[in-house]
Amino acid sequence: MAQYDLVVRNGTLATASDVFRADIGVLAGRIATIGAKLSAGRREINAEGHIVTPGGVDSHCHIEQRSSMGVMTADDFFTATRSAACGGTTTVIPFAAQYRGMSLRQVVKDYHACAGAKASVDYAFHLIISDPTDQVTGQELPALIKDGYTSFKIYMTYDALKLDDRQILEVLSVARRERALVMVHAENHDVIAWLSEGLLAAGHTAPRFHGMAHAPIAEREATSRAISLAELVDVPILIVHVSAREAMEQIRLAKAGGLKVYGETCPQYLFLTADDLDRPGFEGAKYMCSPPPRDKANQEVIWQGLVSGVFDVFSSDHAGYRYNDPEGKMKHGRNAPFKKVANGVPGLEVRTALLFAEGVGKGRIELPQFVALTATNAAKLYGLYPRKGTLAVGSDADLAIWDPDKEITITQSTLHDAMDYTPYEGKTIKGWPVTTLMRGETVAEGGEFIGAPGKGRFLKCDISPATVPLGRRTIAFDPETGSIEAAKQAEDSH
Ligand code: URP
Ligand code: ZN
Ligand code: ZN
Repeated sequence: MAQYDLVVRNGTLATASDVFRADIGVLAGRIATIGAKLSAGRREINAEGHIVTPGGVDSHCHIEQRSSMGVMTADDFFTATRSAACGGTTTVIPFAAQYRGMSLRQVVKDYHACAGAKASVDYAFHLIISDPTDQVTGQELPALIKDGYTSFKIYMTYDALKLDDRQILEVLSVARRERALVMVHAENHDVIAWLSEGLLAAGHTAPRFHGMAHAPIAEREATSRAISLAELVDVPILIVHVSAREAMEQIRLAKAGGLKVYGETCPQYLFLTADDLDRPGFEGAKYMCSPPPRDKANQEVIWQGLVSGVFDVFSSDHAGYRYNDPEGKMKHGRNAPFKKVANGVPGLEVRTALLFAEGVGKGRIELPQFVALTATNAAKLYGLYPRKGTLAVGSDADLAIWDPDKEITITQSTLHDAMDYTPYEGKTIKGWPVTTLMRGETVAEGGEFIGAPGKGRFLKCDISPATVPLGRRTIAFDPETGSIEAAKQAEDSH
């Protein structure tokens, strides 16, 4: 009788620390054995000549979420997760987004109602906190953290979402006390509002002015402020979707100073530029996201940040709004002023392959770093490790099997999301995840989706070790206990 449900044979396995040849034996959806010459499985996959990585973990994607301007994303939980599976990603962490006046508990219930029957890969949720009332910070958040929602995103811009510094401090304090991870969208709201008003008043309405309004200095200032507030509270934070040298430098300096500041960047900052926003007519709207793509020099800087470890995670920030659609980028017409165009670009399906081709394939990063950036680090940061994000005995058998020589030209007609464009149309890349397995079951093969809606399971996130504070208070007052003495002692012991 076969000892395993499945054996993946003869592959070159890559984890965040090693690359080695081995077979993987799978039993009941988990990795049961990693070794040489495993006995027979009921099913066998010959991975000779292929690279086997953990399934991708995309820890920043917007699915079935209404934007701050009220536009619904094109993808629901089925199309988004189908697309993820076809791109080698087996875990997604989208957002349960609170708008002002909403109960967080209800928001979470609503997102579960959307995801439950539709998700085809496993999923967890971050919370978006836009209304940190006493009820939210005192009761809902602590209870939700205990229930497995251990990370939340806050915004420093967007009228409908932004928190002021005082509110940020409240949220950071809850995160410190409860050991949650706060993700920060760091752009200075007033700078953007002031620049936008000036640009629009002068008749500069085209998509390319979105890039001008979201100045790198606005990103730098907010990143620096977020880091300062987190340092004051002594709590780790993660700065998401970093686009430019100025902001990246703040993270690099914070890390060099020993602070627990994590960084995330995304494909749009490696492969798109401000020139894309300047395409003829309204085409630039396809490339509008916040922060916006910068110039070629910044692309190189962001690559350096990936190579040198300033960035811990490489996520898609998938936020797809169709182009030629009154419910998408054109909600306010074909020539809508940039302020009225939904922000966001798709990227769930091509995220890992773009980094594989241009990072590993072009010798910028090694395979273990690729795995760390696309799967392992996110699983660790968000409390899903080692169940997700690695190849280890006991881990879920989530595997991406790569043909490193397969060349594809990215084109929307072969992708599996609900979009009508991809910002990477026509780009030829080498290396593609030709088979994706989720908990031992094949969910994508040879460019076809063969999973099913509802097969994805909700993942409760643990408290992540990444959230442990440094114990390095910057003020002689402990806001958690009200004590001055305790804080002073803590300080003196350093
Ligand atoms: O432009 C973007 N990134 N849209 C998605 C929402 C967000 O801020 O992450
Ligand atoms: Zn954001
Ligand atoms: Zn986002």
